[in-house]
Amino acid sequence: MEGSGFFPKCFLNLMIIAFCLLSSFVHSLEMGETCSSSSRCDAGLSCQSCPANGNTGSVCTRIRPLNPTSKVNGLPFNKYSWLTTHNSYSMTGANSATGSFLLSPRNQEDSITNQLKNGVRGIMLDTYDFQNDIWLCHSTGGTCFNFTAFQPAINVLKEINDFLESNLSEIITIILEDYVKSPGGLTKVFKASGLSKFMFPVSRMPKDGTDWPTVDDMVKQNQRLVVFTSKKDKEASEGFAYQWNYMVENQYGNDGLKDGSCSNRNESSPLDTKSRSLVLQNYFGTNPNSTQACADNSSPLIKMVTTCHEAAGKRWPNFIAVDFYQRSDGGGAAEAVDEVNGRVTCGCDSLVLCKSNAPSGTCDAPAPKAAPTPVAGGESSRNPTRDLPGGDAGSTAIGFSSLVVISAAILLLW
Ligand SMILES: *[C@@H]1O[C@H](CO)[C@@H](O)[C@H](O)[C@H]1NC(C)=O
Ligand SMILES: *[C@@H]1O[C@H](CO)[C@@H](O)[C@H](O)[C@H]1NC(C)=O
Ligand SMILES: *[C@@H]1O[C@H](CO)[C@@H](O)[C@H](O)[C@H]1NC(C)=O
Ligand SMILES: *[C@@H]1O[C@H](CO)[C@@H](O)[C@H](O)[C@H]1NC(C)=O
Repeated sequence: MEGSGFFPKCFLNLMIIAFCLLSSFVHSLEMGETCSSSSRCDAGLSCQSCPANGNTGSVCTRIRPLNPTSKVNGLPFNKYSWLTTHNSYSMTGANSATGSFLLSPRNQEDSITNQLKNGVRGIMLDTYDFQNDIWLCHSTGGTCFNFTAFQPAINVLKEINDFLESNLSEIITIILEDYVKSPGGLTKVFKASGLSKFMFPVSRMPKDGTDWPTVDDMVKQNQRLVVFTSKKDKEASEGFAYQWNYMVENQYGNDGLKDGSCSNRNESSPLDTKSRSLVLQNYFGTNPNSTQACADNSSPLIKMVTTCHEAAGKRWPNFIAVDFYQRSDGGGAAEAVDEVNGRVTCGCDSLVLCKSNAPSGTCDAPAPKAAPTPVAGGESSRNPTRDLPGGDAGSTAIGFSSLVVISAAILLLW
């Protein structure tokens, strides 16, 4: 190549830039490794600490479960476990759409859209009649006020609709604590949001504790939205399934956190009632506490899954409902859901260990736990919440340090 040396030099520079970019991804950190920011962690991890557990150093922490159907597809809907957020709409930093101050406590730190991106598939919403519309409120006495009103329900239902429209094999469950009394109120807002077309019909829900249709059938029929209401009469009047005909649930709040005990909440049949095919496990405190949540969502949650499994007649939870789902000291709610899906779909201790399309019980050996490794330039004291509220689902940002390396390489070569 006689002639201009410009192209080779430019090419070389590009190679170096590409190499730097590549290595900034290749060197991303695994779960449990010490980190300085979420962008340094592998996809699906966030950098956080858990002082409530005595873990003051930040480590890469799971925020996303594996897709429950990723190893074994085609089982009945009730053979999977789905990560569920309690009061999904009640987000830190949200203001009331009325313009009022908002007195309600907060249970999550990111939007429904982001939760869905992170693999949340159970959404818990509180629906109220308010301002001639249906709103999401966290209120008392069944009445919504400006200072307990988050936003019109349609906004969030549209987010769910968008997700279902662009992800054609995903299934979502909405569980309504329903205070709507206006006739046809729910029907109207579900229709307006676009969600009605996805609704799994009550007529196909098993009433006798038998298996649900399979997930691939639900996908094929495009009946990918399962909705439950707490109002009994709406099953007959509007076709919204009455939750307690299909599901058992343990106690919520502090009563559900008592070590070694798992019993049904008042509205639910006893947990071992086999005529209800679905089991939901609540695991969150009465007063949402983002500092405490990382400890609750860690080993105590996993332990309670086992306790509730026994109480539910050896049935694993189909829904694991937590506050601040992204928080834990390592694996968290995502790992709890993976463990259950491993056991129910392929007979392994976690979905991570299951081989695709292999006979049940064919499992990979668990990987050795990553030892915390110091990160170059990592500060030692930092705000544990710093990286969280964004909870960025697609965290592929290029670290600051790699930008420095790239800039240096360019300067050197030019
Ligand atoms: C509640 O908010 C609405 C705006 O959405 C406002 O018109 C109304 O005056 C407020 N009510 C009270 C009691 O502040
Ligand atoms: C959902 O669809 C979006 C847009 O097509 C895509 O980026 C994302 O990976 C999909 N998520 C899942 C869980 O399939
Ligand atoms: C249990 O639920 C019933 C209605 O299902 C209600 O009347 C009763 O007050 C509840 N009891 C407790 C202790 O919450
Ligand atoms: C929240 O949890 C932390 C850690 O357990 C605790 O120190 C704090 O007092 C709790 N806050 C409230 C308001 O209960």
